[in-house]
Amino acid sequence: MSLRQTRQKITEILKNPAIGSSATVMGWVRTKRESKAGVAFVEINDGSSFDNLQAVVPNTLADYASLVARLYPGTSLQVRGQLVASQGGRQAVELQVESLEILGESDPLKYPIAKQKMTYEHLREFTHLRARTNTFGALARLRDVLAQSIHEFFHQRGFIWVHTPIITANDCEGAGKAFQVTTIDLAKLAASGKAPDFTQDFFGEPVNLTVSGQLEGEAYALSLGDVYTFGPTFRAENSNTSRHLAEFWMVEPEMAFADLEDDMDLAEAFLKHLCRAALEQCPREMEFFRERVDAGVIDRVKNVVESPFTRLTYTEAVEKLKSSGETFQYPVEWGSDLQSEHERWLTEKVYQGPVILTDYPKEIKAFYMKVSDDGRTVRAMDVLVPHIGEIIGGAQREDRIDVLTSRIQEMGLSVESLSWYLDLRRFGGVPHAGFGLGFERLVQFVSGMGNIRDVIPFPRTPGHAGI
Ligand code: 4AD
Ligand code: MG
Repeated sequence: MSLRQTRQKITEILKNPAIGSSATVMGWVRTKRESKAGVAFVEINDGSSFDNLQAVVPNTLADYASLVARLYPGTSLQVRGQLVASQGGRQAVELQVESLEILGESDPLKYPIAKQKMTYEHLREFTHLRARTNTFGALARLRDVLAQSIHEFFHQRGFIWVHTPIITANDCEGAGKAFQVTTIDLAKLAASGKAPDFTQDFFGEPVNLTVSGQLEGEAYALSLGDVYTFGPTFRAENSNTSRHLAEFWMVEPEMAFADLEDDMDLAEAFLKHLCRAALEQCPREMEFFRERVDAGVIDRVKNVVESPFTRLTYTEAVEKLKSSGETFQYPVEWGSDLQSEHERWLTEKVYQGPVILTDYPKEIKAFYMKVSDDGRTVRAMDVLVPHIGEIIGGAQREDRIDVLTSRIQEMGLSVESLSWYLDLRRFGGVPHAGFGLGFERLVQFVSGMGNIRDVIPFPRTPGHAGI
């Protein structure tokens, strides 16, 4: 039998404990405790579940003393034995060990995450090992459940998953600064003292990593109806905050024959679906987040599932903020972009739940948003949630070619390079709408984690691109 044919996952054993049968488990030691009576209790985790399996090693085992002496946090091992009903303890079952083989040693003096209590900051230095801790293991499983649920949600509704490019010549989203991609030898160029010639570069023109898959998503929506993208996006904004990453994942649905109301309805159903999935499929992880990360997290997530989202216009929100009597670090005036403190005040203090703000001033939003009849606002919507602020940004798109062309010009963008985008209006344009959900902000919201760097396995932020 191969290794995988021999192995049983701890999650299966805990779900369906076949008391009296034998099992082989492979994993990493979390803790070890020796009793005076001459047995060792070893907590094993194999990543398949939040909970560990307790292995009881009797001192009658051959080489008991030398084997047990080599078990430390992080040691990997294979154990075989009988599943027996547990006396007390968290689980109903434990493994009465009959054979134990150490697969990989772990020097307790050198293992960087050996301590019981470590700060998230400390663990950020060890992103390659931190998934072995309760918190980061739980976050990895939550991320997976949320990602699978995203596909499930759209698949159920007949949306087609479109793979939009990572490298693109189009940097005109106006969504933060893009990372340029080049094969030009920069050191050589600097030494030559010449200006770069991008016609000689790999693509024959300047290109960058995508800041959003939306524009390409629109092309497919105007062919296939309902589509979505889900992939990495890159923004070189120098914002060292707890809610910004330089590399993050974004989900962007785009619907043809849809308006702003359809967009809001989709966003609300989508967030409800994802929050429900987390509560139903990660109950153990959610309980842990409530106990150890943020006491209010389950209530907030349930609130998203159960209550309708409050919908109001940007103008109404600005009035609320101005008459609030609250002192904000940034003053609010109609026309200014809302800061995170304003968003959080609205969603946490005033409405105590998710809020959708619509109809923002056109000056603070992207060129592609549909201009309203008032000429001052666009059909934009942002979804705000407690603990995070903006989690979703979207809009009904401008479908009138003349208005869109003048918006492109007004914003100082190139009509020529957006000619393909204008084609989508030139040939069979239709009303359409979509939005983008920042996947890490979602994971942050659902887990209650305070810093976005801790909800992506290997965070990229200004000054940090190592492991
Ligand atoms: O509001 P944004 O910039 O919207 C767009 O990019 C549109 N193209 C979306 C669309 O209509 N298809 O970004 C969407 C979401 C934000 O609401 C936020 O949740 C997240 O992406 N986001 C970030 N998440 C982490 N780090 C950053 N630097 C982020 N910037 C935006
Ligand atoms: Mg936004």
